Amino acid sequence: MSTVDFESYFKHQRERIEEEAKLIKDFSVFSFHYVPDEPVLRPEATLLIDELANFNLSGIPTHLAIVGSRGSGKTLTVKYLERVVQRESDLEILYANCRHHDTSFKIFAHLLGIHARGASMSEVFERFCARCRRKTVVVLDEVDLMSPKDRRREILYLLSRAAQPFMVMMLSNSPQVLKELDAATRSSLQPVPVHFKNYNADQIRDILRDRAQRGLHRWEEADLSEIAALTTKFSNADARLAIKTLQYHVTGRAKDLRACFERARRDLVVDLVCDLSDSTLAILWAAATNDSDFARSIYERYCAHCRQRHEKPFSYVHFHSNLSYLQSAGLVALVSTKQGRTYANRVLLTFDRNMAREIAGLRFEA
Ligand SMILES: Nc1ncnc2c1ncn2[C@@H]1O[C@H](COP(=O)(O)OP(=O)(O)O)[C@@H](O)[C@H]1O
Ligand SMILES: [Mg+2]
Repeated sequence: MSTVDFESYFKHQRERIEEEAKLIKDFSVFSFHYVPDEPVLRPEATLLIDELANFNLSGIPTHLAIVGSRGSGKTLTVKYLERVVQRESDLEILYANCRHHDTSFKIFAHLLGIHARGASMSEVFERFCARCRRKTVVVLDEVDLMSPKDRRREILYLLSRAAQPFMVMMLSNSPQVLKELDAATRSSLQPVPVHFKNYNADQIRDILRDRAQRGLHRWEEADLSEIAALTTKFSNADARLAIKTLQYHVTGRAKDLRACFERARRDLVVDLVCDLSDSTLAILWAAATNDSDFARSIYERYCAHCRQRHEKPFSYVHFHSNLSYLQSAGLVALVSTKQGRTYANRVLLTFDRNMAREIAGLRFEA
């Protein structure tokens, strides 16, 4: 870029930012980590509050499995409750995201703030118990993303059997995780499922209005309603998508609301696909490149891909639970079709298959 280009580019950017500043009071409302002081509370949240209050009083835990599609406010709700609980009770809340700490051992090490190389699981758990002097709530976010290496999710068993008071709150996009628990863990944990239903258009509009009130100088109510309508009609009512569309709209990223929505949707899909584990991405790649959309046939292609890379493929059952995860993330739709006397599953991609191909190409050829 020549000096003149650079100057005019700089001037253009400054004008754009000044223009945006007239509209935007606070950019942080568009961050996905932003926790509003008073979020739009979904009715299911009161059940969580009741259980936390019970545990606070009695020390007897009810373990919860909070399940809902991506963007249904699971993480936000527990983050907000964490704040309230720390103010109003004697409970301690510990949070771990299983996407980043994907085995029981790594989760304990993370919660203890240590590198526990060389230690055994029972040593780490003992240290963890010694560290938790109060009634402790352990939040395991995205518990469905724990590594297949820790298929039994030992942490759940250990916490449910401990002599001291622990309460587990596990969050998952997919209900599959409950089916995968082994019998021993299930019987001592007895998790109560709490289903976060997809938001309806009114709820999404309320979430958007709250962001607008805090973050914008002016906005049109009709725009909020239109974004809410698009989000509930064309996605699993993912609040992230609505917030990003509003951001693109106020910063003039695309020519009209519909185009902002499409762009936000595409950008979120890219983020989502890039975030998938290698195994799940391999499954999505197989679905995107296979001639047939029947799950059995996609499984064959996935197995061939693993063999080529000298990796052990998942069993069909585990493959299928990954498909359910992809469905809950909104990347595929699973449809059951009658074939003769039985039913077969078909896997339909909800986005441009070339994108899955390209991202997988970059990951696997590297
Ligand atoms: N009830 C709500 N009130 C305010 N913001 C919300 C609400 N639900 C979701 N959001 C926002 O939408 C985005 C996605 O929510 P999140 O809790 O991360 O979803 P999930 O964990 O279910 O995938 C976040 O930016 C979050 O702040
Ligand atoms: Mg979340």
